[in-house]
Amino acid sequence: MKNLKWWQKTAVYQIYPKSFMDTTGKGTGDLRGITSKLDYLQKLGVGAIWLTPIYPSPMIDNGYDISDYTAIDSSYGTMADFDELIDEAKARNIKIVMDLVYNHTSDKHAWFLESKSSRDNPKADWYIWRDEKTNWRSIFGGSAWEFCPERGQYYLHTFATQQPDLNWENPEVRRALFDAANFWLKKGVGGFRVDAITYIKKPAEFKDGESDGKDGLVSVHIMTAATKGILDFLHEFKREVFDRHDIFTVAEANGVAAEDLPKWVGSDGVFDMLFEFSHVNLSLKDGEIWCRPTKWKLTELKQAIANSQTATKNNGWYPIFFENHDKPRSVNHFLPKASDPIKAAKILGTILLTMRGTPFIYEGQELGMTNVAWDSIEKYNDISSRGQYEIALNEGFSKEKALEFVHFFSRDNARTPMQWNSSENAGFTAGKPWLPIHDDYKICNAATEDADKNSVLNYFRKLNAFRANSEILLFGDYEELLRDDENIFAFARAVENKKIYVLANFTLNEVTFPTEILGQSKFILGNYTAHNKGVLKPLEVVLYKEATS
Ligand code: GLC
Repeated sequence: MKNLKWWQKTAVYQIYPKSFMDTTGKGTGDLRGITSKLDYLQKLGVGAIWLTPIYPSPMIDNGYDISDYTAIDSSYGTMADFDELIDEAKARNIKIVMDLVYNHTSDKHAWFLESKSSRDNPKADWYIWRDEKTNWRSIFGGSAWEFCPERGQYYLHTFATQQPDLNWENPEVRRALFDAANFWLKKGVGGFRVDAITYIKKPAEFKDGESDGKDGLVSVHIMTAATKGILDFLHEFKREVFDRHDIFTVAEANGVAAEDLPKWVGSDGVFDMLFEFSHVNLSLKDGEIWCRPTKWKLTELKQAIANSQTATKNNGWYPIFFENHDKPRSVNHFLPKASDPIKAAKILGTILLTMRGTPFIYEGQELGMTNVAWDSIEKYNDISSRGQYEIALNEGFSKEKALEFVHFFSRDNARTPMQWNSSENAGFTAGKPWLPIHDDYKICNAATEDADKNSVLNYFRKLNAFRANSEILLFGDYEELLRDDENIFAFARAVENKKIYVLANFTLNEVTFPTEILGQSKFILGNYTAHNKGVLKPLEVVLYKEATS
């Protein structure tokens, strides 16, 4: 167990390149912008950066619609900029991790243009073509089928119309995809985040399903996620690409059942880690086709996290996360409405950096960035928010209510530009930012926080450095504490009798806890300047360490 791999001992930082740093004044971020911020990331103590897609793309889904797998979108720069980023990151002991989007391409990809041109071209079978459509709903809303006049057939798109699904049954398709991944490995990338991978295998027969909405459609997710036989494709992927490289893989795997996890991760599985969403999807009512905030209890959050910790104890490894580019800001999502964002960000940061697994910090989370709430749907760029808004209206909700749901769930919450300083446009761009900057940038920004020893940023730096040198936090087991408590999230990490305890008050009231659970341990860190044993002030988080360790 002591032989942890490099990626098990470090935190990973996720960058949404369009929103990170613009060096040319065009209003969108670029690779040189990322390179210019490597010192900042090194100081934060991260050992890898996951870049969401930077390949050429019409940007219908901000880069998840790829038109060339082995090139760089000109808005991000050139391949030379990418090579420079790899080298400069390496000089700081940071690896670059690429996003592989292999369920679908853009409808502007040369493969699709050829495939759609006729029924008998060499790539005619590279996508999923059918004479008849089924009643499947795409994940972004509307039918998952689009008619193509050139072929007189429909093609399947699990996501947007402009994201046709590839046909993995065709070995030539798999070969082309594996070759593209190997292209990036040759450049020295440190791993892959693998997008929407549970959808690559389609069922043998395409049938209508029982509708789960007023539109008469059924979610494509229900009909196709984790279809039997998918693991054969994935093992081939592993053999042809992942094996023999000192990299890590983390897959986005919606729809994998907990009992199947050992087949997906760990020594007998395919990937090193799986992003599993039970803890971040608590506000989504089970089985609902659109996003409406649903109440959840702290015990449910603790249970979801404990389940993942248990599932990965002997098998695979857990990617710890509370935020990504598809989720709202964690401060708004997990803590009460009137919370002080600084205290709240430190609570979630503490849990993120003290659980067992590899922490994934999403850009701006280390500053405590929060959600936005724009006053009309037209202001939202996110294709999924627009789809969700339509679905809510069709289900009979008012425009105000539909917009309220969008405020809560929109992916744009996490996509507003990074806040670097208090100058115009938060130092992100000299031009007009592609999405509005959050109003709070004068207070919540990297430069201001760098200078404030009590800032969220300095708290993340301190705790991340502590973690990197803590045997208990790197290797220790996860032990649940106060499991039934609806106010306090508490757990211990333990290597034999050496322990670290974490206790966080998720409420706006003062609460108490039985001090016996802490044994002989001593307070070492928290988000208030003073702490009384046995009491947690509103939104207080504390770390205790066993005196003997
Ligand atoms: C994944 C990505 C998301 C994207 C979708 C389609 O869920 O995280 O941003 O829209 O796949 O590629």
